[in-house]
Amino acid sequence: MELSYVGADNNSGTEDHRLSTGSYYTPFDATKFFWNKFFAQSYEARGDNLDEWIHRTHFIEPAVGAGALVFGLLLKLCELGASENVLSQIRMDLCDINSSALDFVRDQIDQIERVAQFTLPNVKLHHSDFLHWEPKLEEASEPFVFANPPFVKNPPNAYWKNSFADFSEKALHITHPRGYVAFIVPLSLCFSREYSNLRRQIRDDGRAFAFSNFDNIPDTLFKSGKPKSKNSNKSNSQRCTIFTGVPSKHPSLQATRLLRWQAAERENLLSSQPELVDISGYERDDQFPRPVRQDQVLSYSRARPSGTLSDLVTPTGEFLVAVSTVARNFIGVREAYSPGTNLFSFPKDQDRLRFLAAISTDEFMNHWLMLGDGFHVTRDNVLSFPMNASLAAVIDSKLECMARAWANRALYRSEKLNSGRVVTSYNFRPVMSLMA
Ligand SMILES: C[S@@+](CC[C@H](N)C(=O)[O-])C[C@H]1O[C@@H](n2cnc3c(N)ncnc32)[C@H](O)[C@@H]1O
Repeated sequence: MELSYVGADNNSGTEDHRLSTGSYYTPFDATKFFWNKFFAQSYEARGDNLDEWIHRTHFIEPAVGAGALVFGLLLKLCELGASENVLSQIRMDLCDINSSALDFVRDQIDQIERVAQFTLPNVKLHHSDFLHWEPKLEEASEPFVFANPPFVKNPPNAYWKNSFADFSEKALHITHPRGYVAFIVPLSLCFSREYSNLRRQIRDDGRAFAFSNFDNIPDTLFKSGKPKSKNSNKSNSQRCTIFTGVPSKHPSLQATRLLRWQAAERENLLSSQPELVDISGYERDDQFPRPVRQDQVLSYSRARPSGTLSDLVTPTGEFLVAVSTVARNFIGVREAYSPGTNLFSFPKDQDRLRFLAAISTDEFMNHWLMLGDGFHVTRDNVLSFPMNASLAAVIDSKLECMARAWANRALYRSEKLNSGRVVTSYNFRPVMSLMA
């Protein structure tokens, strides 16, 4: 049986309506990634009898929109070889507050029924607010809630700052402990203080969770940009995390690095499964970090404490380094303190050079991408950089080079226009990369 994909690009409606309901529909390639990820990560929990799993699962889409994820799921199940008989009995509750979206989905389902020549009697549409709607679950069924929920700012007195967290919390609750969740949410789930309690719920949940983390530059998962932004710069679009939670005898947390890709690499990225690193042992703070490698996580575990860059810094040293408070591909060093920089001081010039060398290493970049938001460089981001003995030795062996690079810093100059003003910073990353 073949199903044709419909609806993913149906981002219709006025900007105001889209903004208030978070109606930014999932692109087709992101949908494919979403389902490939879910089916790869849930294999152990589902077992190898797909038909049986479909039969015992109760699928729930709380914010169906034009149905990108639902139709993507049906396509994926066909691709995996689900039998027609079992597919025609599939139990699904599809919810949305927008009746036009539901009309559109109904129409698509009617078309599928005509083409496939069977009916889908157990696919039910609900014109409801998911947050005030309770699915009727059968005792023996395993609920599976999947969504690209609305990312809409809540009123100031709400418990969560953004509605994606209300949807995620409710989905975790409905599916606990033996069901499944798969959600597309803002990357801030992984690091923002606003969602600290949601992370705690996930950590205490007892299932296995995996987070795929997407930056928004050079390319971005959603092309539409942040609602109402007049800025055409893609940095205004959403950084996202796709997370899955599946039942497991071995509860765990896994995460990808902060994925960055060029538009030309998009197809490749979204048709593969980026490497997941076990972050269960990460203990520095309550983030879900975005590590490149496993050993990075270990250097932040309480069992393996190491020194940090803060050991070089004193509050009132005579030698100074000003570090730009934003970054993308390198940590910018400025000539002197100015607004938009963090100033660090050192008792000795040697320590200033060690510091310059350390923040210019690839290891520092990985550290920042693991714990930062991919844009801001905070004092804490800088000072928490773990400095083990072997890295300290490499840095010490390069101090003369770093001193020469500073003396010839015009060679490493990078200029950027910021609100009509040229901002000059220095990128010493090539110095340390060449020396690795
Ligand atoms: C980001 S779109 C996602 C649509 C679709 N799932 C997709 O992946 O393309 C969010 C959808 O949530 C719906 N929505 C917003 N608030 C809702 C609520 N409280 N309950 C149910 N649906 C809601 C909007 O109407 C919109 O269709």
